[in-house]
Amino acid sequence: MSFKSKLAGCGAYLPERVITNHELSETLDTSDEWIQQRTGISERRIAAKNELTSDLAVKAARAALKHGGVLASEIDLIVLATATPDKTFPATATKVQADLGITRGAAFDIQAVCTGFIYALNVADNFIRVGQSNNALVIGAETISRILDWEDRRTSVLFGDGAGAVVLRSVPEAEFGGILSTQIRSDGRYQNLLHVDGGPSSTMTVGHLRMEGKEVFRHAVTNMSSVLEDILKENELEPNDLDWLVPHQANRRILERTAKKIGLSTEKVVVTLDRHANTSAASIPLALTEAVGDGRIKAGDLLALEAMGGGFTWGASLVRW
Ligand code: ACO
Repeated sequence: MSFKSKLAGCGAYLPERVITNHELSETLDTSDEWIQQRTGISERRIAAKNELTSDLAVKAARAALKHGGVLASEIDLIVLATATPDKTFPATATKVQADLGITRGAAFDIQAVCTGFIYALNVADNFIRVGQSNNALVIGAETISRILDWEDRRTSVLFGDGAGAVVLRSVPEAEFGGILSTQIRSDGRYQNLLHVDGGPSSTMTVGHLRMEGKEVFRHAVTNMSSVLEDILKENELEPNDLDWLVPHQANRRILERTAKKIGLSTEKVVVTLDRHANTSAASIPLALTEAVGDGRIKAGDLLALEAMGGGFTWGASLVRW
């Protein structure tokens, strides 16, 4: 029998502390007006000092399990996407596994920066498709605030912390809905346009996020629109067949231009960027959870998830909710 993955539930967690653009402008040469105009961001959440990526991930995972009516003991795979792990090793996913009281199956991290959630979803879906997992947790969790250079106004105003998770259940291929297909890509020639200038092997420090904003912007629109067009074509679908686009939340202008490029109404784009900023691997499950929670996304809706991030990495997934 062949299988596929159904999204049984989703959940999210945001740290309590809100930092507004106004607050940033007290210590940085920036303004609410500049940030809103160029990015669409008005505030972001920042994790408390003692709050680790795994803490955010566990809260999001518990919410997703509850929403899906799945017990932690049923989970046999945890794939956690993060660029800000608790430690260099072991994988943050193993800490999450322990905190959830799970002692079977496998838990590991995926590193594809802002595209991490799409990569993790693809990996977990493949485990389910080959029959190696029955119930998987896919998590995107970041404390990206820890690797920001808070004196650099070109980058520090763009990001926030948070976590989101989905539970995948194995169902027979013939069943309606679920993950229809995923495409992931990378092109390492562009790794220096968006990177962290540290690491255990290179500098033995953690380092800070560095970015060529204009170049990243250009590639983001091109790559995300092309992978969306490809995945729609693969599934013999048109942009208008989509009920919702749930994109990685980097910049409102990137979201609008990508939607326009593929001919999709911006009204179908789920936007949380204004309140969350760019939460890297967490942004898609955070946006998904919000739109499911407020009733915009309904059973049977066709969703496209898409992202682009450091590497460059990019990808898209088509899901029937
Ligand atoms: N406040 C005030 N002024 C600023 C700020 C700030 N926070 N940041 C930059 N500026 C200044 C610059 O110094 C520059 O001043 P100058 O002309 O005197 O030199 C001016 O504003 C214009 O700067 P640009 O970099 O040309 O501004 P741009 O319109 O390109 O916007 C931005 C910058 C918002 C970073 C944009 O390039 C962008 O969004 N890029 C995509 C980056 C991104 O989203 N990365 C996330 C990771 S990848 C992903 O998730 C897809």
